[in-house]
Amino acid sequence: MEVGIIGSGVIGLLSALTLTDAGYKVTIVARDLPGDETQDWASPWAGVSIYPHPDVGGHDLQTENFKYYWALAHRDPTSGVQIVNATEYYDDREDDSTIWYKTVVPRYRLISKENLPRGVKLGFTYTSMTINPTFFLPWVQRQLEARGVKFIRKTLNSIEEAQKITGTKLIVHASGLGAFTLANDKNVEGIRGQTMFVKTGFEELKMHQGSHYTYVIPRMFTNGAIIGGVSQPGSTDRSVDIDLRSDILQRVKTLTNGEIGDIDLEKDVQKDIVAFRPGRKGGYRLETDGSTVHAYGFAGLGYIFSYGVALKVQALVDSIGGGMRL
Ligand SMILES: Cc1cc2nc3c(=O)[nH]c(=O)nc-3n(C[C@H](O)[C@H](O)[C@H](O)COP(=O)(O)OP(=O)(O)OC[C@H]3O[C@@H](n4cnc5c(N)ncnc54)[C@H](O)[C@@H]3O)c2cc1C
Ligand SMILES: *[C@@H]1O[C@H](CO)[C@@H](O)[C@H](O)[C@H]1NC(C)=O
Repeated sequence: MEVGIIGSGVIGLLSALTLTDAGYKVTIVARDLPGDETQDWASPWAGVSIYPHPDVGGHDLQTENFKYYWALAHRDPTSGVQIVNATEYYDDREDDSTIWYKTVVPRYRLISKENLPRGVKLGFTYTSMTINPTFFLPWVQRQLEARGVKFIRKTLNSIEEAQKITGTKLIVHASGLGAFTLANDKNVEGIRGQTMFVKTGFEELKMHQGSHYTYVIPRMFTNGAIIGGVSQPGSTDRSVDIDLRSDILQRVKTLTNGEIGDIDLEKDVQKDIVAFRPGRKGGYRLETDGSTVHAYGFAGLGYIFSYGVALKVQALVDSIGGGMRL
């Protein structure tokens, strides 16, 4: 049976993996494809850290996802997925009762209160992963092409147009922010992010959440890391906010207790990144609607959910396919 996928971000690509695993013949239609460096899509610009999220639900999806990348990091490091030591700090909660994934991730350890940095109320470490999307997205595309998946570059105005181009009614709709138009979903909203790719030998994943959102994410195959960040719902400003650069650096120095070393904003920044997370007021959408499976609105957690979402997409496509008796 044939399936068309709208979107070639991490959600569309991994859905193509699970669908071809299940024997479907897949065609992907997208405006932006792996290798494209435009601000029109999110996937090339993510950090990427795999930190499960305490507050957003979807625990099964996040758990399946963690297992997938863990196995992939061991099986094929050319995918750009790397095992790292991770630390999370929070200043908006006193204890780890919300940290549901403490029994999922390897080597979870609570940091005792007296060892926490000033202003941090909860801290813990575990073993997690980072993904370098510059390697990962083309890696997935190569796996898919080897399975006969076709990629068509096209800007679509409707889901029906995708049905015509791919020659099938069954469509997985994973267009991220494109859903504002393609699904006529006015809850879809970009969330602006700004980061820097800097030269550093720092090799740990660290994040602070609560009153501010600050992180350092080492990048496999580079002598560098992504530092950030900021979360600005509704902002559509595509230019670099210069004042934010020094603010981010200052926060990251505090986060790492100075261990990130001296970073010169003039010489050590290899790239300034401004990009937009595909958010949705009310949370992500993962459901069928007629012969369409919608999978969008994963905001700042698209990679953290991706393979779990892809497994669910495949199950939803199975359920439609049975109904259509094709
Ligand atoms: C600065 C930053 C840091 C981030 N860090 C992390 C992180 O550490 N961990 C994490 O899990 N997530 C992170 N994210 C979020 C993550 O990048 C996204 O959640 C994820 O990439 C969304 O994937 P997607 O496939 O849904 O959408 P996208 O990657 O945006 O892909 C959408 C696809 O649909 C196509 N499309 C859209 N409209 C049309 C149309 N009209 N016609 C044809 N094609 C169309 C696009 O061309 C593209 O192929 C970060 C994001 C940003 C911006
Ligand atoms: C994580 O830290 C431990 C020491 O606490 C070290 O033995 C191990 O090699 C580190 N793992 C990685 C992937 O860096």
